[in-house]
Amino acid sequence: MLIKIDYGDVVEFKAARTILNKPLYFSHFFYIDGLLIDTGFAHVSREVLEAVKKLPVEKIVITHQHEDHTGNIDLLRRELGVPVYAHPETIKVLENPPKIEIYRKLMWGSPLPAKPLPVEKDYKLKNYTINTIYTPGHSIDHTCYFEPQNGYLFCGDLYLGESLTGFMVGENIADHFKSLEKILALKPKVLFCGLKGRLENALDRLRSKYEIWWNLGCQVKELYDAKASRSQIMKKVFGGEIYFYYFSQDNWGRRYMIDSILDNIDIFDHPTKISL
Ligand SMILES: [Fe+2]
Repeated sequence: MLIKIDYGDVVEFKAARTILNKPLYFSHFFYIDGLLIDTGFAHVSREVLEAVKKLPVEKIVITHQHEDHTGNIDLLRRELGVPVYAHPETIKVLENPPKIEIYRKLMWGSPLPAKPLPVEKDYKLKNYTINTIYTPGHSIDHTCYFEPQNGYLFCGDLYLGESLTGFMVGENIADHFKSLEKILALKPKVLFCGLKGRLENALDRLRSKYEIWWNLGCQVKELYDAKASRSQIMKKVFGGEIYFYYFSQDNWGRRYMIDSILDNIDIFDHPTKISL
């Protein structure tokens, strides 16, 4: 399923795998002023190509390596004849895509090899300039794209939600905070989120996310200082692991968030870098 929503200067694409015509989980990609930001996933490639062909796409940029954002890079590059750009760390992964878990294959499809060009500092389009902002945390290569005139932030999977309490393997809480600080300084107004689509009140949402995670980190730190074990911390903070951890074959869970907080426990000795 692919739904197109026209917001005037931005077009949003909502893509989902369906069962009995019911969408399972939407992921989003966007178009602004000749620039396509992300490409959707492989299971919807036919619909993506058909829809995107109707737009005057000149370039494609990628937020990060995950297959729900990168599944149609090579198809669109070939069929549209346009260049695709990504962070060097994204390029490394896409040149030789990793094996992924079954739930990811079912939802989005296996990652396909692609060879984008290194991302540029900014993109001067007909009406807007889009700035490239490196924002690791969700993944080492994560990159946002910011349009300063309207305060549009194409944020990939940087946001996802305010009180999300779980990490994918490899997410890094210290990098997340640094990236959020960087983004908050830009004072974005509208988020274009990989999971939730277009969202108003960008600044409030991002500040709230930062605050919730910071308080969670401080709670873990208190338990850590009181000599609680990792499993005691898990139990106290979250009441245990969530079922999805097992379904995801150890790919996504609350434990990875706790682990990342414990790995970076010293950051909670200092006041936050932003006023909450
Ligand atoms: Fe992601």
